[in-house]
Amino acid sequence: MAEVTTVRPLTGAALESALDDVARLRIKVFHAWPYLYDGDLEYERKYLQSYRDSDKAIVVGAFDKERLIGASTGAPLIDHAEDFAAAFEGTGLDLNDIFYCAESVLLPEYRGQGVGHKFFDEREAHARRLGFSKSAFCSVQRPADHPMRPEQYRPLDAFWRARGYAPLPGVIAQFSWKDLGEEGETLKPLQFWTRDL
Ligand SMILES: CC(C)(COP(=O)(O)OP(=O)(O)OC[C@H]1O[C@@H](n2cnc3c(N)ncnc32)[C@H](O)[C@@H]1OP(=O)(O)O)[C@@H](O)C(=O)NCCC(=O)NCCS
Repeated sequence: MAEVTTVRPLTGAALESALDDVARLRIKVFHAWPYLYDGDLEYERKYLQSYRDSDKAIVVGAFDKERLIGASTGAPLIDHAEDFAAAFEGTGLDLNDIFYCAESVLLPEYRGQGVGHKFFDEREAHARRLGFSKSAFCSVQRPADHPMRPEQYRPLDAFWRARGYAPLPGVIAQFSWKDLGEEGETLKPLQFWTRDL
């Protein structure tokens, strides 16, 4: 197993110089089940600019010496209101109270060393410092009989529950991307999970 040497939040020049590597990691890791994302570097670059430009967003990097081998991002949910506000309608929750843990990606050979926990620790600590009272993320829902589901796939639900998260009943966002082998983008349902901070 390859060894992770550091996990730390990236800011300023370190963040700027890591963004292309984060984009490549997202494309590589999200290529796999359950995302099946046929990634596009130009889209990724644009998407990640918002993390560079927001003073409340966070990018956490995991390194093997100098090489970025994992990353995790988070931002106020309100910064993504155009994507997610509809899902939260009628819940009584105020989007301004919620910090959104956007994604965690780690190359497979570095998994199982506690980096996933550190990614949550760093983002939740950042959210608490900024005064958020809840943390949330969303998880793509795929049909159980999907032909590309690997037989040995182990869902992350148990990990998320152990971190104190639970699904928010009925809070499902719709997000579109191009799946591997498909011609164009299709909508996917994403289940929101939250916990109090
Ligand atoms: C999510 C991810 C970053 C976690 O990485 P990790 O560093 O291996 O996680 P950790 O070592 O901190 O382990 C977290 C927990 O998951 C469990 N776990 C380890 N390997 C696992 C696997 N293959 N499948 C499911 N759970 C696993 C561990 O048992 C651990 O639980 P524990 O605290 O009870 O021991 C990594 O699996 C990944 O990049 N997955 C693909 C992308 C993804 O699905 N991201 C999440 C949504 S954006």
